[in-house]
Amino acid sequence: MDERKGFGTNFGFLMAAVGSAVGLGNIWGFPYKMGANGGFAYLAAYLVLAAVCGFVVLLAELALGRKTGAGAVKAYRLVSKKLKWVGWLGVASAFLILSFYCALGGYCLKYLVLNLGNVLHSGFGTNGMSGGEVFNAFVGNMGESTLYGMIFVAITMLIVMGGISDGIERVCSVGMPVLFILLVISIIRAVTLPGAVDGLKYMFIPGWAVANGVIEEAPSIFSVISAAGGQMFFSLSIGMAIMITYGSYLDKKENLEKNALVIVVMDTLIAILAGLCVIPARFALDPDGPLGGPGLLFITMQNVFDRMGPIGPIFGLLFYLLVIFAAISSSISLLEAVVVHFVDDARDRGLGDKRKKYTLIIAVLVAALCVLVCVDGLGSNHIAPADLLHLTVKGWNDCWLDFFDMLSEGVMMPLGGLLLVLMLGFETGTDLIRDECEATPDHRMRIYTFFKICVRVLTPIVMLIVLYGQIRAFFW
Ligand code: PFF
Repeated sequence: MDERKGFGTNFGFLMAAVGSAVGLGNIWGFPYKMGANGGFAYLAAYLVLAAVCGFVVLLAELALGRKTGAGAVKAYRLVSKKLKWVGWLGVASAFLILSFYCALGGYCLKYLVLNLGNVLHSGFGTNGMSGGEVFNAFVGNMGESTLYGMIFVAITMLIVMGGISDGIERVCSVGMPVLFILLVISIIRAVTLPGAVDGLKYMFIPGWAVANGVIEEAPSIFSVISAAGGQMFFSLSIGMAIMITYGSYLDKKENLEKNALVIVVMDTLIAILAGLCVIPARFALDPDGPLGGPGLLFITMQNVFDRMGPIGPIFGLLFYLLVIFAAISSSISLLEAVVVHFVDDARDRGLGDKRKKYTLIIAVLVAALCVLVCVDGLGSNHIAPADLLHLTVKGWNDCWLDFFDMLSEGVMMPLGGLLLVLMLGFETGTDLIRDECEATPDHRMRIYTFFKICVRVLTPIVMLIVLYGQIRAFFW
């Protein structure tokens, strides 16, 4: 009989879960949103939302997974009558996110190679082109960007084929500490560049970005809250199948509240640290470059390394390696969240261990969508939904990546999170979460009253704001 094998150690679990949470969003989303939405004021809003919503949903997902010992699809089926299907919503968002995440992961691989070329003074470096020129040439080259995207899908697939302890846990237990060390080295370089202090002011001082013309007008309190809420949700990898899946592989002896808290704290800390690296570097060496999104990562940061002198390509190499660790530890969690259902189902039906087979099938399907995202080249190759359907609606149809992002991050993820808390608050009750937390020997869930109030009142309100804010951002 094949056993369902979980994480070998709590450290391995934490590295995998933190690895899932820490991704591209921490590097290109959080820092510039913090600056554009009021610095410390945004951070304060983010921390409150992370406590009453992020932590609560994360803990509920981990507990639900560990209680049922199953991925999201089966977990919802086992506990709910009315919301049996919500697990599929999470799986579908993971699948869609994976398709564009792998394309972006492929871009990161390309930039690693470019900077290696620069280190070696070889022909496959940037060859004197600016960050913008390099980027446009790359996204416009369908064959090359697809090749890199496919390599990224293949790496993700091979790790997930290795299973939880021998694949995901092993990679994250090495990759996450290395990421942390690379980040600290990059921060030291960035904050000691002349002019870096403006980056720190942008990130932390409320109103500085508006007063200095970096952004046009001060955001309303509602946009600050909804920007922080949307970012927090995507960043913690919640509202979908992942944390339920990882929770299902966790041993009963591990303390769930402590783990959930560590994941939230580490994710936020690494987002702030990533900001201390990219934002000061941008203000010091490319003050007109994009401050966020793919433009920050692939145009501004490349300009930064090109302008850093002879040491620049080495920092470029270290930086893109760090970004690749962040992206891979997230992409493997996304793939695992989809694969787990089929693997468990086959095992339940007595068919044995079919992990390799299902991982391959799902990776091929992901690859098909990823090809579309790569060939589209962020809309530069004229096959975006807007080109094909002649729609003149908001920006989400300007490229396939934005379209998939709108469906997953914009609608399905926040909806999944909302339905989870509604299920716990008004259908199943919250006792099942408490019982699972207290399944850890000699442990009492001391925050149960806080948890209950959040699930019944605060979290649904925050989730509604996040959902509304996301829909508004994508459709208005
Ligand atoms: N949390 C990752 C990031 O911040 O980039 C991305 C992500 C991974 C989102 C997994 C959602 C997810 F399920």
